[in-house]
Amino acid sequence: MVLAWWQHGVVYQVYPRSFQDSDGDGTGDLPGIISRLDYLVWLGVDAVWLSPVYPSPMTDFGYDVSDYCNVDLLFGTLADLDALIAAAHARDVKIILDYVPNHSSGQHPWFINSRNGRASAKRDWYIWHDGAPGSGPPNNWQSHFGGSGWTWDEGSRQYFYHSFLPTQPELNWRNPQVRAAMFDVLRFWLARGVDGFRVDVMWLMIKDDQFRDNPPNPHCTAGGSSYGRFIPLYTADRPEVQEIVAGMRAVLDEYPDRVLIGELYLPIDRLVAYYGVDGRGAQLPFNFQLVQMPGWDASTIADIITRYEAALPPGGWPNWVLGNHDRPRIASRIGTAQARVAALLLLTLRGTPTLYMGDELGMVDTPIPEAEVQDPAEQREPGRGLGRDPERTPFPWQAGPGAGFTNGTPWLRIGTDAPLSVQRADPASMVNFCRGLLALRRRHPALAGGTIECVAAHGPVLSFRRASHGDTLVVLANTSGAPAAVEVPAGEVLLSTHADRIGKSVTAALTLHPDEAVILQPREVQHGR
Ligand code: NOJ
Ligand code: MG
Repeated sequence: MVLAWWQHGVVYQVYPRSFQDSDGDGTGDLPGIISRLDYLVWLGVDAVWLSPVYPSPMTDFGYDVSDYCNVDLLFGTLADLDALIAAAHARDVKIILDYVPNHSSGQHPWFINSRNGRASAKRDWYIWHDGAPGSGPPNNWQSHFGGSGWTWDEGSRQYFYHSFLPTQPELNWRNPQVRAAMFDVLRFWLARGVDGFRVDVMWLMIKDDQFRDNPPNPHCTAGGSSYGRFIPLYTADRPEVQEIVAGMRAVLDEYPDRVLIGELYLPIDRLVAYYGVDGRGAQLPFNFQLVQMPGWDASTIADIITRYEAALPPGGWPNWVLGNHDRPRIASRIGTAQARVAALLLLTLRGTPTLYMGDELGMVDTPIPEAEVQDPAEQREPGRGLGRDPERTPFPWQAGPGAGFTNGTPWLRIGTDAPLSVQRADPASMVNFCRGLLALRRRHPALAGGTIECVAAHGPVLSFRRASHGDTLVVLANTSGAPAAVEVPAGEVLLSTHADRIGKSVTAALTLHPDEAVILQPREVQHGR
C-alpha cells in the first residue's frame, strides 16, 4: 500500500504568536516562520499546522476570526502566507491551516449584520433565541470558558449562543447559506495551495434544534469549571455534525492529496465515528487519549492502544498526540525524563504523530504571574486550572534576552528551558534525541506504515512490535522512575532515551534504566530468518 503524505509524515504544530518574531513587536509572525523553516527540515518533520493567522480582534488569540480569507497584520500579509506556502513546498513541507468554523468573531461583518435586528439578512447565520419564560437565558448551556453560553443583545432583544467567549458568537450550521459560505472559505485556501485543515472544535459544530437543557453531571467536582457541571448531551457530538464533516471532506476531495484533521475531545467509541461513513469524514480525527489519560502508566497506555486499534473502522488511519496549545505540556505532566519516553512512543506508535512546537526541546509549562495572564479562559475563571499561557510561551532559540525569538518585548514571558542553540551542541539533548527518532522513523517502513502487534504491559514496561515486510522493531518503554527488568529477543538497540545504550547488543534479559525506552532490532530479523 502506498501511504499518503499525511499517513507516513509527522505533523508539527506551530503556535504563530510564539514561534519567531521578525519585526520586533514581540509577537511571532509569518516572515519569522519562513526564516525558521530550515530548522523544521533539520528536525525532520513533514507538515506544519499553523494555529490561526486570520484577521482577528485576538480576544481568544486568533480563534475569533473576523475575516476568514485574509491574514492579520500582526502576523503579516496574505502575500507572506503565500510566500510561506511556497517556501515550505520548496522544502517538501506541507502547510495545514487552522479552520475555525464553529464561531466567528463578534467583529465579523456577518455577525455585525446579524445583530442589527431580527429582520437583518444574516440574522439566521448565528444562533439567536428568546430568553426563558420569565427571565434569563434560554437554557443551561454553559461556556467552556465559564458562565452561561448565552449573552443578551440589548439592541436586537434576544440572546446569542457562544461555546466560548461572548466575542465568539456561534455560527448556525443548520443554515445552508452558512455552509456554502464556509465551504467557499476552504476552497479559497485550497486554491492557494494549502495542504489541509485542522478543524477547530469539530464535535461542537451543531447544537440541539430544540434547545433542551443539558443534564447535570453527577461527577462534577466542587471548585471545578462551570462547564463541567453539565453533561454536554445537547451541545456536543450531535448526530447532524457527521453530515457537515462529510461536506467539508467532499470540498477537500475536489483537490488532490489534502487532509482533514478534526479537533475532537471524545472517548474512543465516539471519536472513531468522525472517520465518517465509508471513510468520507476526517482522515485524522485527533486522538487525544494520551493527552487526557489520568496519570501515565504502562497498563493504561497498553489498554488505550489496544482499544483504539480495535475501534478503528476499516481503512481508518490512526494518529497520536501528546500536547497542544490548550493543554499542560507533556514534560510538566509526566516529568522531563519521562517526556523522552513519551516522545519515543509518539514516534513509534502506529499512525500519524502530531508534535507540539517546543516539546522536542522538552519545554515545560512556565508559570505566569497573575498580572501577566493573557489567556481569556484564565481571566474568566482564575485558578481553576484553565489557564493556557504556560504552554504558549515563546520558543527559545538561543540564550540571552529575547531568546532569539524577538528583539522587542515578548508578548508572553520566556521560560527557563534550555534553548535550541545549546541543545543542538549536545548530542544527548532532547532535541537531538527527537531528531534521531524522526530520522529512524523515516528509515524504517515498520515505523511509518507497519503493523502493531503484541501490545502489552509487563509491570511498568510497555512493549509492542512494529513490522513491515521483513522490517521488524520492538519498542520497550519503562514508564516508571525505577529500573525494570524485562525479557527481550536477542538483538541490537537502535535507539534509546539513554545514549549509553545505543548500538549495544542485548540477549534474553534487559534491565531498563529508570525512564528508559528503547527501540530494538531483533537479531533473527537482521539475518533475514
Ligand atoms: C480550541 C482551540 O484549540 C482553543 O485554543 C480555542 O480557545 C477554542 N477551540 C475555541 O476556538
Ligand atoms: Mg512580529
